[in-house]
Amino acid sequence: MAQAQTIPDRIRVISSNEEMSRACREAVKPIGLVPTMGALHAGHLSLVEQARADNLTVVVSIFVNPAQFGDQVDLANYPRDMAGDLDLLRRHGVDLVYAPTVEEVYPPGFNTWVDVGPLAEKLEGIHRPGHFRGVATVVSKLFNVTRPNRAYFGQKDGQQTVVIQKLVKDLDMDVELVVMPTIREPDGLALSSRNVQLSPDQREAAPVLHRALCQAYEQWRDGERRGDTLRETARKVLQSEPRVDSIDYVSVADMTTLGEVERVEDRVMVSVAVQMGSVRLIDNIVLE
Ligand code: PAJ
Repeated sequence: MAQAQTIPDRIRVISSNEEMSRACREAVKPIGLVPTMGALHAGHLSLVEQARADNLTVVVSIFVNPAQFGDQVDLANYPRDMAGDLDLLRRHGVDLVYAPTVEEVYPPGFNTWVDVGPLAEKLEGIHRPGHFRGVATVVSKLFNVTRPNRAYFGQKDGQQTVVIQKLVKDLDMDVELVVMPTIREPDGLALSSRNVQLSPDQREAAPVLHRALCQAYEQWRDGERRGDTLRETARKVLQSEPRVDSIDYVSVADMTTLGEVERVEDRVMVSVAVQMGSVRLIDNIVLE
């Protein structure tokens, strides 16, 4: 039976993949897809706005993907706010929302996984084994169901954009990827659904990630090209903040291979990941 629910204006919320496929087949092209895990904020909405500007149909998916969470507690604690999300998406002129259940995406017997290889094993992959396999698999499924002409991702998750670019290229997927800049709070903290999990004290300390990236950026702008020196600079800033419990990595890596660079020649991504209490924060900037 039809699971679509009509909400004033034109937004349609669909949970069945069969119905979503049909809605997208019948939709006026081009279609822009914004994949999300919900708990939407201005970072997500910047992708939606760009999708709205570029396409005739805008599809947003909201699915907290268990396959990309290693830690079941992290999955259980992931913020969720479907009613608030739909309200924001309605006001942003979204046409279709795909909000499937876990059973719809991973029915019993589901067994096919998309493995992007070594790119998935670096940086985040070291600390979150299996994470990008979960991301690549769900993004492939979202692309198959919605068949978008364009798909929108945030630079906030820098490695994710590199992994998805590789996925699209290796599997000959006919979709244009659009990567949008990171939206930040006035104090530099990158917007993230996880920020609500920070205590007031941790929230106060969290802009240290951005400060670390900016110091490396300024040093690079002043002519420094040695990878180790830039990594050391960012690490020192992170270490100066006692509320950072541990540093997972400080990386200055090539934008396509994600290999650490000795010298900065082409575009590189400076990225950091830290643990503050039970919250893990990541951020990056591109030197170009
Ligand atoms: P989620 O964390 O909800 O993010 C959805 C999209 O919003 C991603 O492309 C992410 O990079 C982007 N985004 C998040 N914070 C941003 C910010 N401050 N500025 C700009 N863009 C931002 O990333 C995922 O979900 C999932 O891995 C997903 C791709 C949906 C697959 O499950």
